[in-house]
Amino acid sequence: MPAKIIDGKKIADSILGKLKDKIKNSRQKPGLAIVLVGSNPASEIYVNSKEKSFEDVGGYCERHDLNEGISEIDLLNLLNSLNNNPKIHGILVQLPLPKQIDENLVTNSISPHKDVDGFTSVNLGHLFSENTILAPATARAVLHLIESTDIKIEGKNAVVVGRSNIVGKPVAMMLLEKNATVTICHSKTKNLVEHTKKADILVAAAGKPKLIKKEMVKEGAVVIDVGINRVDGRIIGDVDFENVKEVAGFITPVPGGVGPMTIAMLMENTLKAMELENKIKS
Ligand code: GUN
Repeated sequence: MPAKIIDGKKIADSILGKLKDKIKNSRQKPGLAIVLVGSNPASEIYVNSKEKSFEDVGGYCERHDLNEGISEIDLLNLLNSLNNNPKIHGILVQLPLPKQIDENLVTNSISPHKDVDGFTSVNLGHLFSENTILAPATARAVLHLIESTDIKIEGKNAVVVGRSNIVGKPVAMMLLEKNATVTICHSKTKNLVEHTKKADILVAAAGKPKLIKKEMVKEGAVVIDVGINRVDGRIIGDVDFENVKEVAGFITPVPGGVGPMTIAMLMENTLKAMELENKIKS
């Protein structure tokens, strides 16, 4: 039986609808600052989409498009002013950044309570100590989509392919927190199929088009595809969707799976950041 398709767009739209109602009934508008350095075409598409979604739910969005050659100190000064701006509850610096800028330094210059990407060491540390405050949006999206299938995560073999700080590692931690038995595979893993074939839950976040083939997937597995690869002008995931859907139990499409859910989770994080700030003030 072919896999059930997990409709990330539909689930995301339902979450965004609830956020819109919540914001409409709130005295205060959540404020999000989006910082884009340079003109990476993929980053521009993501940032436009985040800006539009945030405005659609009724938030206040402030965009800072900066020159590719901006100095590190100018960027840090901007973040300092956003950290101190009461209208701004969430700050997002789109990655990757140009070579002259230290990504780690910039990320960690965002106030942890405005860090809606959940990339600061403070927020990642909270996630690792099971005391999550603001967690990375893509990782939250992956967990949400797995949970939408109603399968029980506890005790399952979960395999995450990819070990990035912004997706692979946080997804693995979240699955561990839900009591899955977690394996993280990466570019140096020997015999990838030996691991993926045992996965009840398989998360592909390697950034390699169609890396996961039908023969690598266990029958009935939940397959979540985080990949967004541009090939010949088309967007292709890390999973060979057409063939893998013949064996998987559930599968996310690309586009229309993790992407829209990530945006919904980012919007949720921004609202949460506003609520946290109000709690601190009161
Ligand atoms: N670049 C790729 N994914 C992301 C993301 O989720 N947030 C930011 N800020 N940059 C990214």
